Amino acid sequence: MPLVEWNDALTLGDPVIDRQHRGLVDLINQMHANLDAPDKEAQVMHCITAMYLYAKEHFWDEEAFMDRIGYPDKARHAALHREFVERTHTLTDCCLCDEAPYAELLDFLVAWFKEHVSTEDTRMVAFAKARQA
Ligand SMILES: [Fe+2]
Ligand SMILES: [Fe+2]
Repeated sequence: MPLVEWNDALTLGDPVIDRQHRGLVDLINQMHANLDAPDKEAQVMHCITAMYLYAKEHFWDEEAFMDRIGYPDKARHAALHREFVERTHTLTDCCLCDEAPYAELLDFLVAWFKEHVSTEDTRMVAFAKARQA
């Protein structure tokens, strides 16, 4: 069973953003599944690196989307993205040491993703839809 199940609460109704969020969920679930692999260090590092690059690309696209819709809260939202990138980077560095905090990293990724999508990203997409109406 995947660690994060995709559900309606995570679906925002924007095809590009939803596809990218699904990609992030897939990477989190892949990372979780790899914790049982015999070569888990290499597998998890591969997933973390992919996740880091994918998240940066997603944030870039989301911030361009905010520019297009004239989102008034972009600066604060973008600052939350930066915080995520920095925290992920720090935890990734820690995963190179002996006491790799894989559980802490996964807990952080899952909690951050669910919270951010269901509040910040939901608000952004709702603003875009209201503007179109
Ligand atoms: Fe966001
Ligand atoms: Fe997002």
